[in-house]
Amino acid sequence: MKKYCIVLSVAFFGFACGNSSSTSESKEAAKPVTSVMDNPDYEKGLNLVAKSDCFTCHKLREVSIGPAYGLVAAKYENNESNQEKLAAKVIAGGQGVWGQIPMIPHPKLAKEDAIAMVKYILLLKEEKK
Ligand code: HEC
Repeated sequence: MKKYCIVLSVAFFGFACGNSSSTSESKEAAKPVTSVMDNPDYEKGLNLVAKSDCFTCHKLREVSIGPAYGLVAAKYENNESNQEKLAAKVIAGGQGVWGQIPMIPHPKLAKEDAIAMVKYILLLKEEKK
């Protein structure tokens, strides 16, 4: 009976992959917090919204008579065409997008003010959880 002695020698050559694997996270390197509140559109629009009747029907994060502004912001991309469209809706009023309760019209609202309000609202996108 023959005995086979099999020697397997497996050699692993560890090649460095070049990954810059920095395992230690330095707390000092924390990025500066940028907030939507730093955006000039934020304060201007908030002031106008606060002065008007908007908060009677809208809350920021909860559905009230109207949709939460965070949800409005999540639905529409913050671009010029949506700003125009939503500003026109604020002035004219309307229903049917969020439900059957109508938003009252705001005929005395200047278009540029309505746009400033909408710019503020569209900054309020819900944080992704
Ligand atoms: C009488 C209550 C009421 C008031 C006051 C009100 N809203 Fe609304 N708003 C609503 C309702 C209800 C809707 C949902 C309408 C729909 O389903 O189409 C809405 C929808 C909206 C939308 C989303 C429109 C869309 O088509 O998605 C925006 C933006 C908005 N409101 C902004 C404002 C602003 C700015 C003001 C203040 C100038 C304001 N609202 C005042 C009730 C109100």
